[in-house]
Parts: sequence; C-alpha cells; structure tokens
Amino acid sequence: QPSQDFVGKKILITSGPTQEAIDPVRYISNHSSGKMGAAIADSFADQGAEVHLVLGKGAVRPQHPGITIHSVVSAQEMYEKVSSLHPSADITVFAAAVADYAPKNIAEEKIKKAGDAMTIELVKNVDIAFSLGKEKKWNQIHVGFALETENEEFHAKEKLEKKNFDLIVLNSMRDSGAGFQSDTNKVRIFSGDGSSINSEVLPKSEIAQLILKCIKQLPVKI
Ligand code: PMT
Repeated sequence: QPSQDFVGKKILITSGPTQEAIDPVRYISNHSSGKMGAAIADSFADQGAEVHLVLGKGAVRPQHPGITIHSVVSAQEMYEKVSSLHPSADITVFAAAVADYAPKNIAEEKIKKAGDAMTIELVKNVDIAFSLGKEKKWNQIHVGFALETENEEFHAKEKLEKKNFDLIVLNSMRDSGAGFQSDTNKVRIFSGDGSSINSEVLPKSEIAQLILKCIKQLPVKI
C-alpha cells in the first residue's frame, strides 16, 4: 500500500507531445509517448492526490481511474489549459515535450507539391514553464524536465534557474533506455539548493516514485 502523503494536494502535470499544424493534413511534432507523464500522474494518484493531466494528442493515458485528463493539441492550447489550472495547483510537473516553434500561418487547404524545395516560416511558441515560473507563489512547487543531447548538466542547471523550477529531471538522449518512448528512463535530478541524485536505468514507474520522493524532501511548504 503506497503512502498517502499527497492527500488533499492538487497536482497539475503536462505530458506527451504538442502538434503544430502546417495545413489540414500535416503537423510538426516530436517523439514523446507520454509514458513518463502518465507514470508520474499514477504515482501521485496512488498517493492520494487530486491529479490533473494536460495531455498532448496520442499520448499514453494513465491507469488510475481518478485522474482528470484535459486533452490538448498545440502548445498554445496546452498553455491556455495549464494557465487556467495553475493558480490552484500545489505542485506542477512539466513533463510534456512542447514544440518550441510553430508555423506562422496554418494553410487553410492542403499545400500542393510544387518546386524542389519549400520553406515554412516558424514563430516561437510560448514557453509554458517559463511563463508560469514567473507566477509561482511561495507555496507552489514546480518540477521541470530537461531532454538534452550534449552538455547535459550545464543545460539542465540553466533551465532550473531560468524557468524557476524547484527540481529539474534531466534525461539524456545519449543514455540507452532513457528519454522518449522507452518504458524505462535514467535520470539525474537537480534541486535548487545545489544537491543532486543519479538513477540507474529503471522502469518509468520507479523513476516517477523517485521524483515524488525528491519533491517530499523539498523545503517548500505546500
Ligand atoms: O513521453 P515519453 O516518451 O515518456 O518521454 C519522456 C520525455 C523525454 C518527453 C520527458 O521525460 C521529458 O524530458 N520532457 C521534457 C522534454 C522537453 O521538451 O524538454 P526541454 O528541455 O525542451 O524543456 C525544458 C522544460 O520546459 C520541460 O519541463 C518542458 O516541459 C518545458 N517547456 C519547454 C518548452 C515550452 N514551450 N514550454 C515548456 O513548458
């Protein structure tokens, strides 16, 4: 029987990929399956929390029946949904892989094949974690992720500070059994106070439990 340490707490989690439409039949996205976010949602629900999962299209759903799922497609939609739920959330976990850029214009009709090359103009999407990091209150906790391919620790620590996270979970594309798609992950978790822990390659359910353990050790009173 899992501990019931999160009874009465409201948890907000983003998970899965965003899709940025190019035209009615095409989009820009990434390889996120939503497995990591679903595992975190299940862990919190198992420990008694009220869980709201803002989920990108096609992402894996959690198993716990009590979790509220809010389906979204684009980064803008994810931002709007997360913003509306955030003020009352005790803990927010940003596990989604949000597209950093989206097509400037969505073509109304399917774009026809023409020349040998084509250009799509992209514009920056809102950074959900950064934007809500500025709104974070003293009694709210933010946990971010960093998915990196090089200079991992440097980039993760930079994001921890810039996005005002209390914890950041680094997964590297260079580690096998880690990151997108797989049922396992290998992480380093950095906390705002400078401490860190490393995991082995473990099932995402166990990585989720480790993240919850780190959250419980934070000095923030929620
Ligand atoms: O879904 P799975 O297949 O199980 O894979 C899990 C995962 C690899 C997607 C997950 O563990 C993970 O690392 N998620 C974050 C991926 C990512 O986009 O990382 P990033 O380094 O680009 O972003 C840093 C942080 O800012 C993340 O918390 C991200 O959710 C957040 N962000 C980024 C961009 C943006 N526009 N808005 C955001 O909120």
